[in-house]
Amino acid sequence: MARVFVTRQIAPEAVEMLRAKLDVKVWDEDRAIPRDVLVREVAGVDGLLSLLTERVDDELLEAAGRGLRVVANMAVGFDNFDVPALTRRGIVGTNTPGVLTETTADFAFALMMAASRYVVQGVEYARAGKWQTWEPNLFIGQDIHHTTVGIVGFGRIGIEFAKRARGFDMRVLYHDVYRRDAEFERQHGIEYRELDDLLAESDHVTVHVDLNPDTRKLFNAERFRKMKRSAYLINAARGPIVDTEALYQALKNGEIAGAALDVTDPEPLPADHPLLQLENCVVCPHIASASIRTRTDMAKLAAENIVNVLEGNMPLTPVNPEVLENK
Ligand code: GLV
Repeated sequence: MARVFVTRQIAPEAVEMLRAKLDVKVWDEDRAIPRDVLVREVAGVDGLLSLLTERVDDELLEAAGRGLRVVANMAVGFDNFDVPALTRRGIVGTNTPGVLTETTADFAFALMMAASRYVVQGVEYARAGKWQTWEPNLFIGQDIHHTTVGIVGFGRIGIEFAKRARGFDMRVLYHDVYRRDAEFERQHGIEYRELDDLLAESDHVTVHVDLNPDTRKLFNAERFRKMKRSAYLINAARGPIVDTEALYQALKNGEIAGAALDVTDPEPLPADHPLLQLENCVVCPHIASASIRTRTDMAKLAAENIVNVLEGNMPLTPVNPEVLENK
């Protein structure tokens, strides 16, 4: 029976799908698997179900040995994969696109609302016993309705964000490496902008690009200076797309009004990180896809990808399909 290692406890339905056909071992401690343990555990496996916390690189693939045929990431982002290394070795990598799109867009929208209406700060204030009276000047934020949102990265999640924004009567600008055609823009009620123009016009800027060499530190000191001083930044994509030190300075110096982050660099942020001390910054522990249904669907899709490859079938969502085309 082919062997599979799962790097964390995931939805039981997904583990059952694997166990029905394969010899499965699950790392069941309530923390990320230490690298040395992972390197040991992958020896001789045919399939690996990984999370975004595991670096899947040459060293790990070497440790697994020649039997490894598939690494299924339980995430849509796969910047933790060294894709050329997988491809060189004829190993299929897969991710989980599609199943988390709306859930992630919902959460990014929640972050936007939380940031600009000081939801979290308000709760902390009340909890701390500071609420003495109704105050005309307490936590005055930025409206959502009838303001302008700039969506940077107009893939699946960006498109879903735009839908939600239109429901709030927002003006929706977008920037992407690919400009959509006029009919698509009309249908979605969106206007294309070069990045700097989008930054200059938006009251809220939300990031939905993937992490790659071109998007690493896309948001740097210069970009923050281009944003309105009254604007908010939302990041539910990947931490390193934003230069953390530059963001800290921009928030501290009032170059932008606030930020809400589901992802950070580094991740996790150490408890004493200065960003966590700022009044105008809300940080969540990378939970944008964390609804029961979506996390179950992500785990099931990853499991299905493993079963498919190990049974000699096409996986549903490969990231390097060229490996299969060569076979
Ligand atoms: C989560 O961040 C994912 O990429 O699915």
